[in-house]
Amino acid sequence: MSFSTSPSIPVVTIDGPAASGKGTLAAGLAAALGFHLLDSGLFYRMVGWKALDSGVPLSDEVALIRLAIDLRPRFDGEAVWLDGRELSLALRQQEIGTAASEVAALQGVRTALLHAQRMARRVPGLVADGRDMGTVVFPDAVCKIFITAGIEERAQRRHKQLIEKGLPSNISTLLQEIGERDVRDAGRDVAPLKAAPGALEIDTTKLDASMVLAQALAYCRSRLKSTDC
Ligand code: C5P
Repeated sequence: MSFSTSPSIPVVTIDGPAASGKGTLAAGLAAALGFHLLDSGLFYRMVGWKALDSGVPLSDEVALIRLAIDLRPRFDGEAVWLDGRELSLALRQQEIGTAASEVAALQGVRTALLHAQRMARRVPGLVADGRDMGTVVFPDAVCKIFITAGIEERAQRRHKQLIEKGLPSNISTLLQEIGERDVRDAGRDVAPLKAAPGALEIDTTKLDASMVLAQALAYCRSRLKSTDC
């Protein structure tokens, strides 16, 4: 199997706020380009999940850093395994997203997770989604995309996703939690959510997923061609 973390391997980064459509776009781009996929939010969700599961307070920075250092996830297609448990659905719960956003504000946790994220860079290429993919984790990415959408639209999309997965959801709670997460993710001192310089910015509020994919794909193909990747 070919494996490399070399900077010569092309990376497409997709950053944006909660429920802006990053995951859908990342999966579509990865399939179209034949690239690997990194959902970086899963790492923060796993630390949040482990903290809640093992009773570690979200204020105990030292213990949270230890959890992040010791994280040994196994990815099998869409399935995520941690400590012998299959957690794909559990990690999607709204309370885990909130815990993830709290642990993600800690520099030590972010540093502990950096290497594992960079190890996802493998031939023939990677599509990575998150909050700091283009700014911190892969600053040399060949294509950088920043997507946004109005908060009402994002809450509706997340509500639909949770219901489809059979998970509990309440639209007004969602609106409040997403709003709080926006403030925390964009306002934190370390790796705050922001567009990387030169990123293609797409407001997806009035676009459906296929339109966003078409626009992003055209941009990536032309960038990959012009940089000869
Ligand atoms: O993208 P997702 O909703 O799964 O991310 C959960 C939380 O993890 C985010 O609200 C954010 O605080 C954090 N996160 C981050 N940096 C990333 C990905 C996610 O801080 N690259």
